Parts: sequence; C-alpha cells; structure tokens
Amino acid sequence: MISVRHLDVSFGNVRAVSDVSFTVAAGDIFGLVGESGCGKSTLLRVLSGLNPHWTGSIEIAGRAIGPMRDKAFYRQVQMVFQDPFGSLHPRHTVDRTLAEPIAIHGLDNAEARIARALDDVGLGPRFRFRYPHQLSGGQRQRVAIARALILEPSILLLDEPTSALDVSIQAEVLNLLARLRTARDLTLILVSHNLAVVAHLCNRLAVMQGGAIVEEMTVDALRHGEPSHPYSRELLRASLGYHRAAGTS
Ligand SMILES: Nc1ncnc2c1ncn2[C@@H]1O[C@H](COP(=O)(O)OP(=O)(O)OP(=O)(O)O)[C@@H](O)[C@H]1O
Ligand SMILES: [Mg+2]
Repeated sequence: MISVRHLDVSFGNVRAVSDVSFTVAAGDIFGLVGESGCGKSTLLRVLSGLNPHWTGSIEIAGRAIGPMRDKAFYRQVQMVFQDPFGSLHPRHTVDRTLAEPIAIHGLDNAEARIARALDDVGLGPRFRFRYPHQLSGGQRQRVAIARALILEPSILLLDEPTSALDVSIQAEVLNLLARLRTARDLTLILVSHNLAVVAHLCNRLAVMQGGAIVEEMTVDALRHGEPSHPYSRELLRASLGYHRAAGTS
C-alpha cells in the first residue's frame, strides 16, 4: 500500500531524513520510533503532502506520487497530529470542523457522514455543536480522528496521536484506532517516541536514529527477543522501564 525508496529530506544543511526505504502492506499498522529530532514527523509530513521538498520515490497503492498532491490523494491519505488543541480551530464547532472537508470535496450526505464519524470515534451527537475548549484532550483527539476519517481514506498517518494525553486516556485512543483499522479497513503508520505505544498497536516497526532507519522488525520479534541494533535495545529499555541488574538503574 505504501512504498518509500531512498527518501532524503534536508532543511538547509540539516539532513532530517536520509536514505529511508520501507514498505507497508495493506491493513498493516506500521510503527516508526526514535528519539526527538530523528526525523519521524518530517517523514510523515512528506508522505502526507505537507512538505514538497524531498527526493526519492514514493508509491501509494502502486501509484508513484510526486511532491504535489491532488484532491483525490487527500481522500486516500489523511494525517492526525500530536496536539489536538492546536490542530482544531478554536472558534469552529465540531460540526463545522467535520463539515469542512465534506464541502471541500463536494460530497453528499453531510448529515449522515458527520453523525457516523462522531459515532465511530465514540462521541455521540451531543458533542456535535461543542467548541474545542468544551472538550477534554481525549475528546479533542477523537474529533481530530473523526475529521481524518470523514473522507473515508484508506491510509491514516498518525504523528504521536496520544503523547499529549493522560496515560489513562492513551490506551483508550489506541484501542479506538485498532478498532477503526479493522472496521474501516485502514492502513496505518504510527509515529511515536515510545516503543511501548508502538508495541501496543503495531504489527511491524522501524527504529529511526539521526534521520535513518537502523532496524526494522515485527512486534512479535520485539516481544520474543532483544532487538539486534544497540540503539533499538536502548530504546526498548527506556520505553519499557527495564532497570535490571545490568546496572542500567
Ligand atoms: N521546518 C523545519 N525547518 C528546519 N529544520 C527542521 C524543520 N522541521 C524539522 N527540522 C529538523 O529536522 C530534524 C527532524 O525533525 P522532526 O520534527 O522530523 O523530528 P521528530 O523525530 O518528529 O522529533 P519529535 O519526536 O521531537 O517530534 C530535526 O533536526 C529538526 O530540527
Ligand atoms: Mg515529531
């Protein structure tokens, strides 16, 4: 469903993504982990069409895509950002936020689509005319997910979708995403600095360091053995809070 080959992205002299290649099969939940500044968001922004300055090749559903995307692309690929407060317009109701993409893409049945989207993310009709400040962080992120889903995309790109949320709410939102993946037949890429979050939701993952992918593995392999790259092992210990006798505490 997604194929990235030799992707390079630079900001002036800073090489934010360097020679990154990976593929994601339809229906997979692919995780990208790595420390702050390693290039995760840059990679997602390129995939989602927000940053046209890259080299390499990208294919979505077998079709090569360039730096500029058409309307059809945005029906197929949607992104959810880390900060649900920042990504929702403070003076727009939930209704208006959800109605906007429907109008832009000229879709019919706006009423039914909005009702279904709210239902799908576990917010009933009573949330429809609220403003972002009248919602909790978790509810705001559900609205952001509903907005991403309203165009019925096949690919959802998630940039730290739960890291601004309380720990107790994080699992709820991750479980919601897992349910939606099955119900809506989605392919997901989940970016997180937290390996535990990625292990919870994903079936495959890539570990990034300094703009490059240093290791790729299945989550099963992660659970059943130590990752082979030293940086992945370090990340695993940090994320899972391993403080064993080896002197890491
Ligand atoms: N618009 C920009 N202009 C200049 N440099 C940028 C820009 N966006 C990102 N960078 C640089 O690119 C590198 C990768 O940044 P990126 O935001 O992709 O990291 P990240 O892995 O998402 O980090 P975090 O976990 O903190 O979100 C960093 O060195 C960053 O400073
Ligand atoms: Mg980021």
